Amino acid sequence: MTSEGGLLAGKVLLVTGASSGIGAATARVGARNGAALVLMARRLHRLDELAAELRDKGAEVACAGGDVTSAEDVERAVRLAVDRYGRLDAAFNNAGTTTEPALLHETDDADYDAVLDVNVRGVWLCMKHEIRAMLAHGTGGAIVNNSSIAGVRATSQGAPYVAAKHAVLGLTKSAAAQYAAHGIRVNALATGLTRSEMSEGVFVRDPAAEERMRRRNPQGRVADPEEVGQAAVWLCSDQASFVTGATMAVDGGAGAW
Ligand SMILES: NC(=O)c1ccc[n+]([C@@H]2O[C@H](COP(=O)([O-])OP(=O)(O)OC[C@H]3O[C@@H](n4cnc5c(N)ncnc54)[C@H](O)[C@@H]3O)[C@@H](O)[C@H]2O)c1
Repeated sequence: MTSEGGLLAGKVLLVTGASSGIGAATARVGARNGAALVLMARRLHRLDELAAELRDKGAEVACAGGDVTSAEDVERAVRLAVDRYGRLDAAFNNAGTTTEPALLHETDDADYDAVLDVNVRGVWLCMKHEIRAMLAHGTGGAIVNNSSIAGVRATSQGAPYVAAKHAVLGLTKSAAAQYAAHGIRVNALATGLTRSEMSEGVFVRDPAAEERMRRRNPQGRVADPEEVGQAAVWLCSDQASFVTGATMAVDGGAGAW
């Protein structure tokens, strides 16, 4: 397996929403950096394909099918890490969803519930069970939550998504302050537009959107999902030992405007 310096050598990393996009890319970056992985997603067949690819390159991978809005499923994924590898060192809480962008007064209550459920309750449940496992093992840990540029300002994606991603930053800061003394670091990514199933959905609905967004981005492009994965893996690594409660922009400079 090619090495990128082994930032996570000897560490156990859980990635949620690992069946596609940024989650799958982070699993690949984590594996190249020496992590033993637990991959969680609802689409188990996609996880199995990714796991086979990574194991062929020498990585240790365990798969947990499940939904991040289910406490039982999340607990099972964390338990898999502990049972298989003895502990959980790091987690990338990345699973997320969005809906058709709409004006607030025209947004369905069901869409609001769905977006808040996955993006906020999902991160909440993941942190809760990950932190319990980290505290039980007593050697600290690192958690990275995937927020968004919509976590720091309003975007065209709709109020529920913007509210949910702001809430992820609140959870991140609160947990960072509560568990710093236990050696657990908690950070977030303010991720900019990244090529994935989620962004493709936006471009299919609005084909001019990609060009518009490219033009607005200082780097003039959309991120490759591995560029987001690199940031997540660095924040999970000991290289980021004094970084906690932070929001790292991974957006090609979009937040600088
Ligand atoms: N793509 C972008 O431009 C962009 C920008 C900013 C933030 N993000 C965030 O990045 C994260 C990953 O999204 P992506 O762009 O890779 O899109 P994606 O659609 O490829 O990935 C989302 C993943 O989350 C999983 N997921 C959704 N609901 C789930 C649930 N209830 N339980 C378990 N897994 C669930 C999906 O199955 C999928 O694997 C999301 O949190 C998203 O909000 C994406």
